[in-house]
Amino acid sequence: MCNTWQSGTRTLRLVQPLDTLGRPIRDLRISVTDRCNFRCTYCMPKTVFGQDYRFMDRKELLSFEELERVARAFVELGVEKIRLTGGEPLLRKEIEQLVARLGTIGGLDLTLTTNASLLARKAEALRDAGLDRVNVSLDSLDDATFRAMNDVDFPVARVLAGIDAAAGVGLAVKVNAVVKRGVNDAGIVQMARHFRRTGHSLRFIEYMDVGATNGWRLDDVVPAGEIVERISAVFPLEPVDAAYRGEVAQRFRYRDGSGEIGVISSVTQPFCGDCTRARISAEGKLFTCLFAVRGTDLRALLRGGANDDELREAIAGVWSRRTDRYSEVRTERTSRAPRIEMSYIGG
Ligand code: GTP
Ligand code: 5AD
Ligand code: SF4
Ligand code: SF4
Repeated sequence: MCNTWQSGTRTLRLVQPLDTLGRPIRDLRISVTDRCNFRCTYCMPKTVFGQDYRFMDRKELLSFEELERVARAFVELGVEKIRLTGGEPLLRKEIEQLVARLGTIGGLDLTLTTNASLLARKAEALRDAGLDRVNVSLDSLDDATFRAMNDVDFPVARVLAGIDAAAGVGLAVKVNAVVKRGVNDAGIVQMARHFRRTGHSLRFIEYMDVGATNGWRLDDVVPAGEIVERISAVFPLEPVDAAYRGEVAQRFRYRDGSGEIGVISSVTQPFCGDCTRARISAEGKLFTCLFAVRGTDLRALLRGGANDDELREAIAGVWSRRTDRYSEVRTERTSRAPRIEMSYIGG
């Protein structure tokens, strides 16, 4: 796999790196802030992310200019999709300016994962800046359940208004629901019913042992197979082929043509073999797995004066040494090992 482009007066021929398991880099997830205005119990429990928690200072964050440089380096190495995440990415000031900068790279699938609390206000500016689509996190349509899960008493109606606003300005929308047994699994069919015929793909995510603060237990996981069965019993489903290699969600369509759903089964059916995702934390560390413990400090390179070739080489070096396949080797023991929080690394 090769890529050719002009660098100054030289034409470089650059091999796109493969990791030790033969996986290319296709997908870059950039966390633009470690802050969030929700305290979802499975992600940022209040007991840990409360009053005393120390979030990053503004100067620790990569600037938009630095992020654009990093993004360009990744695109030259094979990245085709860039997703902005957090924490909550819409809390980052003037995020639409970053979207506009990334839009100038061209040829990218440019998207964002959000809790939608600020989406109604921001949808139009994001669309105008060149965003293609959004994935909205929404765990329940039942207001009391939703308020308890976000743990800041945020009403479900405002998330639904955010979804409508995004769709209204022409952004494609996917809805992500993390399922926790005994907490929101009773609402799975209700969610399927609500989002059929809306054109929004609804995806159910197995609750993961990501981070070290959410008290994860295997018993809390509702297997994707069970989710599909429960929906299919009411609205018959059939499988759909993956849209691209490395797609995280397994897709199913309603047999009556009323749309599709997806399940993200990283616990019961891991998909590391096709994992082409790299992650950048808000302070510019590169992680090659959601469950990584250590990252590579790209900010030090950027602020230390590295040129574009050096930046690209550093990234390619990290990627070509990558061995990660955490979900395939997960055991009770590994699930208790220390690791980075999802709100830091960018779900
Ligand atoms: P699309 O491009 O719209 O298909 O998005 P996506 O599924 O790649 O991204 P999204 O942010 O919607 O991811 C949904 C959820 O899937 C995340 O919040 C995680 O829970 C899970 N997920 C995404 N990437 C990975 C991964 O690399 N490993 C694991 N274990 N889970 C992942
Ligand atoms: N398991 C599965 N998904 C999670 N997310 C956050 N924490 C977890 C977890 N423990 C998801 C959110 C959102 C995305 C950013 O990450 O629901 O969709
Ligand atoms: Fe915030 Fe998303 Fe984590 Fe919930 S899951 S606390 S909305 S970053
Ligand atoms: Fe990729 Fe790590 Fe998730 Fe496996 S566990 S799919 S290697 S991010």
